[in-house]
Amino acid sequence: MKFSLVIGALGALTATVSAVKVNPLPAPRNITWGTSGPIAVKELILRTNESRNHTHTVLTDAWIRAWSTITTLQWVPAATEAPIAIYPPFPTGAGLTKRGVQAIQSVQLHVVDSDADLQHGVDESYTLEVTESAGSVKIRAQTVWGALHAFTTLQQIIISDGKGGLLIEQPVRIQDAPLYPHRGIMVDTGRNFITVPKILEQIDGMSLSKLNVLHWHLDDAQSWPMHMEVYPEMTKDAYSPRETYTAADMRRVIAYGRARGVRIIPEVDMPGHSASGWQQVDPEIVACANSWWSNDVYEYHTSVEPNPGQLDIIYNGTYEVVRNVYNELSEIFTDNWFHTGADELQPGCYNFSTYVTEWFLEDPSRTYNDLAQYWVDHAVPIFRDAGEERRIMMWEDIALSTEAAHDVPKDIVLQTWNNGLTNIQNLTARGYDIVVSSSDFLYLDCGHGGFLGNDPRYDIMSNPSGAVDFNYGGNGGSWCAPYKTWQRIYDFDFTTNLTETEAKHVLGAEAPLWSEQVDDVTISSDFWPRAAALAELVWSGNRDANGQKRTTLLTQRLLNFREYLVANGVMAGALMPKYCMQHPHACDLYYNQSVIT
Ligand SMILES: *[C@@H]1O[C@H](CO)[C@@H](O)[C@H](O)[C@H]1NC(C)=O
Ligand SMILES: *[C@@H]1O[C@H](CO)[C@@H](O)[C@H](O)[C@H]1NC(C)=O
Ligand SMILES: *[C@@H]1O[C@H](CO)[C@@H](O)[C@H](O)[C@H]1NC(C)=O
Ligand SMILES: *[C@@H]1O[C@H](CO)[C@@H](O)[C@H](O)[C@H]1NC(C)=O
Ligand SMILES: *[C@@H]1O[C@H](CO)[C@@H](O)[C@H](O)[C@H]1NC(C)=O
Ligand SMILES: *[C@@H]1O[C@H](CO)[C@@H](O)[C@H](O)[C@H]1NC(C)=O
Ligand SMILES: *[C@@H]1O[C@H](CO)[C@@H](O)[C@H](O)[C@H]1NC(C)=O
Ligand SMILES: *[C@@H]1O[C@H](CO)[C@@H](O)[C@H](O)[C@H]1NC(C)=O
Repeated sequence: MKFSLVIGALGALTATVSAVKVNPLPAPRNITWGTSGPIAVKELILRTNESRNHTHTVLTDAWIRAWSTITTLQWVPAATEAPIAIYPPFPTGAGLTKRGVQAIQSVQLHVVDSDADLQHGVDESYTLEVTESAGSVKIRAQTVWGALHAFTTLQQIIISDGKGGLLIEQPVRIQDAPLYPHRGIMVDTGRNFITVPKILEQIDGMSLSKLNVLHWHLDDAQSWPMHMEVYPEMTKDAYSPRETYTAADMRRVIAYGRARGVRIIPEVDMPGHSASGWQQVDPEIVACANSWWSNDVYEYHTSVEPNPGQLDIIYNGTYEVVRNVYNELSEIFTDNWFHTGADELQPGCYNFSTYVTEWFLEDPSRTYNDLAQYWVDHAVPIFRDAGEERRIMMWEDIALSTEAAHDVPKDIVLQTWNNGLTNIQNLTARGYDIVVSSSDFLYLDCGHGGFLGNDPRYDIMSNPSGAVDFNYGGNGGSWCAPYKTWQRIYDFDFTTNLTETEAKHVLGAEAPLWSEQVDDVTISSDFWPRAAALAELVWSGNRDANGQKRTTLLTQRLLNFREYLVANGVMAGALMPKYCMQHPHACDLYYNQSVIT
C-alpha cells in the first residue's frame, strides 16, 4: 500500500503529463523526440547482425542485465522537466492500445567491429532509434563498447506504464559519442580498505553514467592490501589478513569492469607515499619510515600526512623490488595504462637515507631535481619494459613541483591536480597529454574537516572565520575545503583559454576520492551522484547548442538519476529535499534560468 500513501500525500498535485520524455544521464550529444506518443514495449529480444553462435558474450550478458533491470525496476521517473511529474505521470493508456499499433519487440543491433578491445581511445559512439513503424529499437555501434552505452541509454528511457507493462516515448533518435576518451573516478584503497563488492558498486554507477575509467590507487604509505606472489610478506602491512586483495579479487574487479565498458587502471604510488609493504621486503628500500612526520615543526617534516615513507631513490636494491612488483601487477591488470604515482616527494625524508645524503655529498651541485631525475631515469625504463603498448601515467608533480625532474618523457600522461587552469595550460603547452583532476573542482574528499587528532584548532569558543580557520583547513587536514558540489563540478570549464593544440592534449578528467575518511560505509554517497555530474561534463559537456550553460537543466536529470542509482543498488547521497525533485526548479536560487552563463 506504499503507492496509495504516496498518492494520498500528493493527491492535490496529481496531474496527467502528456509525454514522458525521460532524458537519460549523461544527456546524449543529440537526442530528438517526435510527438506521436508512447508505445508499448514487449519482451525485447536482442538480434545482432552477427552469426547466432558468435555473438559477443559481453553483449549478450549486458543485454540480459539491461533487460532484467528494466523489468524488475519497472522504473517510474522520479523527476522530469514537466511542471509536475509525480506518480502516476503517465497517459491513462488510451494511446498505448490504439488499434494497429505495433509494440516494440526487439533490439536490432549492428556492431561494425566486434573485435575492438576495451582500451584508451576505442570508439564508443552509437546511434539508437525507436519508431513505431519499425517495431524495434535500432542500435548501431562501431564497437561492442559503444553498444554497451546504447543499452544503458535504452534502459533509462523504457519505463513503467503504471499498469504492470512497459512503454517508451517515441519516436526518438539519438546520436551519441563522448567528448573525451578518458572519463573516470579514482578509488583509494590504501588509506582505508574498500571491499571488492563496494568497488563493484562503483563500477555499476560508472557504467550507468558512461564513465569508462576506474583509476585504482591500490596502496599508500598506510597499508599494502595486494597479495604479491613474488613477496608474500608485503601483506603483513595490510590492515588485517581479511583486508587484502588476492590476484583473483583484482581479476574479478577487472572482469566486472570490462563487462561494463570500464577500464581498470592500477596505480602503485612511487617513490613517495611508500612505506607499507615495501619495508617488509627490505627496510633499506624505504627512507624515513620511522620518523615523526612533523607538521608541527615544519622544518623537520618528512611527509604530507602520517605515516612517512618514500622509496630510496639512490639505493640500488629499490629497483629490483619495484620491477618485480610492477611486473606481477602488469600480468594481472589487462589495461595498457599503468599509473606509477610520483606525487608529493618530500626532501626532508631523505635526510634519513645514508645513500641519498652520501650521493649529495659526492657532488655538492646536486639538487632534489637531480634526485627526481635519477628516479625517472632508473624507474621509467622498468615501466616501459611491460611492452610497446604500455602507456605510463603519473601525477603532475614529477614535472611541475619544486622537486620536479628536469626531463620527463613527453609520452607520459600527467594527471593534474594543482592550480586549476594554470597547470592545465602549463602542461598542455609543454606538450603533455593530461587528465584533469584539479583539486579545487574535482576532489570529492574535500570539506569534511581535518582527520588529524590532537588538533588545537578545534578548541576555540567561537565560529572559525577567515581563510586560515575556514573548515579547520591546513596541511594534512581538509586542505582542499570546501566540499565540491555537483554544480561546482559541472560548471568546470577546464579547457578555458587553451589553444586548439593545447586543448587536444586534454584526454579527459577524473574525480579522485582520497580515502582518509572514507570506507565501505560512505564511499558510494561520497562518489554519487556527484561523479555523475562529471560523467555528463566529459561525455556531452555542460553547454547547450547555443553555448549557454545547462547546469539548471541538469538538476532534474541528476535528481532522477540519483534515484535511479539507488534503485540499482548504488547508495548515492541525497542532494535536495524530495519536494524539489517533484517541483522542478521550485528550489532554484534564481528565477531567471539564464544566470549561469
Ligand atoms: C540531431 O539529429 C537529427 C536527426 O536525428 C538531425 O536532424 C540534426 O541535424 C542533429 N543535430 C545535430 C546538432 O547534429
Ligand atoms: C556486421 O556488419 C559489419 C558491417 O557493418 C560487418 O563488418 C561485420 O562483419 C558483420 N558481422 C557479422 C558477424 O556478419
Ligand atoms: C559457429 O560455431 C561453430 C562451432 O563452434 C563454428 O565451427 C562455426 O564456424 C561458427 N559459425 C560461424 C558463422 O561463425
Ligand atoms: C633535512 O636537512 C635539511 C638541510 O640540513 C634541513 O634544513 C631540514 O630541516 C632537514 N629535515 C629533516 C626532516 O630533518
Ligand atoms: C648495487 O650496488 C652495489 C655496490 O654499491 C654493487 O656491488 C651491486 O652490484 C649493485 N647491484 C646492482 C643490481 O646494480
Ligand atoms: C610551467 O611552470 C613552470 C614552473 O612554474 C615554469 O617554469 C614554466 O615556464 C611554465 N611553462 C609554461 C609553458 O607555462
Ligand atoms: C581567458 O582569457 C581572457 C582574455 O585574455 C581573460 O580575460 C580571462 O580572464 C581568461 N580566463 C581565465 C579563467 O583565465
Ligand atoms: C537573466 O540573466 C541573464 C544573465 O545575467 C541576463 O542577461 C538576463 O537579462 C536575465 N533575464 C531576465 C529576464 O532578467
